[in-house]
Amino acid sequence: MIFYFSGCGNSRYMAETLAHHLHDTLTFIPEAARAGRYEYTLASYESLGFVFPIYSWAPPKLVLDFVKQLQLAAKPSYVYFVCTCGDNCGLTEKVFRKAVEGKGWTLSACFSVQMPETYIGMKNFKLDTKENAQRKIAKAEDTMNRLMPRLANKEVFSEMVKGSLAWLKTYLVNPGFNRSATDDSKYRSTEACIHCGQCVEVCPLKNITLEDGRPRWQGHCTMCMACYHHCPVNAIQYGKATEGKGQYFLEDRRQQNI
Ligand SMILES: Cc1cc2nc3c(=O)[nH]c(=O)nc-3n(C[C@H](O)[C@H](O)[C@H](O)COP(=O)(O)O)c2cc1C
Repeated sequence: MIFYFSGCGNSRYMAETLAHHLHDTLTFIPEAARAGRYEYTLASYESLGFVFPIYSWAPPKLVLDFVKQLQLAAKPSYVYFVCTCGDNCGLTEKVFRKAVEGKGWTLSACFSVQMPETYIGMKNFKLDTKENAQRKIAKAEDTMNRLMPRLANKEVFSEMVKGSLAWLKTYLVNPGFNRSATDDSKYRSTEACIHCGQCVEVCPLKNITLEDGRPRWQGHCTMCMACYHHCPVNAIQYGKATEGKGQYFLEDRRQQNI
């Protein structure tokens, strides 16, 4: 049983690759949470996996909230997570291990893969070049091919890229990010908007409605930036931070818009 979250497709690709390799089932966390589906039957010999992007050097809050609510019929024999990041993960392993232990389970394995950057909601953040994005994807695929058999064998291991100042980023910057950098009132659509509703479709939290044909954000954003990156005419901006920065998303296991 694999639970996953993804805004722009990187983690979805990894989750699908993993589900295929392990012959396991996939559940999209926002959909399950929206339906209030927190109870699952899992045989004690089965594995429990999570796949998610790194948001400000930690798992996205919605993933941790989901883990907290999750109810399983049996204690899973093997718990692991795979995370995708643009650069590094801070002390994500420590945060996730604590969440898992809070359920009475044990985290046995985890690893991170670098994938193309999706966060450009602040001035100094930018997307990868096309070459760099392609290089990251190819390397991530190699890492998956090397480590998925270890998950299949239920090995105990950890291969996380923590980066520098990991404690500071995870325990000081991340709470600040969750408090203030997920403010969706800074999102706007420009005159280029063609009223197609693609932003409504792709928002994993169903946080966008169309009013007079233009998107309106409803205040429970996780800042995945799916709306920005998927807009077919690049008409969505986040304050001034995103202007002129281009778009990226990964769909159907193929790179697009990079
Ligand atoms: C809100 C937000 C915060 C992010 N924070 C980090 C971070 O702390 N470290 C990092 O290496 N990448 C960070 N990233 C980049 C993503 O983790 C990375 O691009 C990921 O593969 C996106 O996955 P997705 O396409 O499944 O949404 C961030 C992206 C977003 C949208």
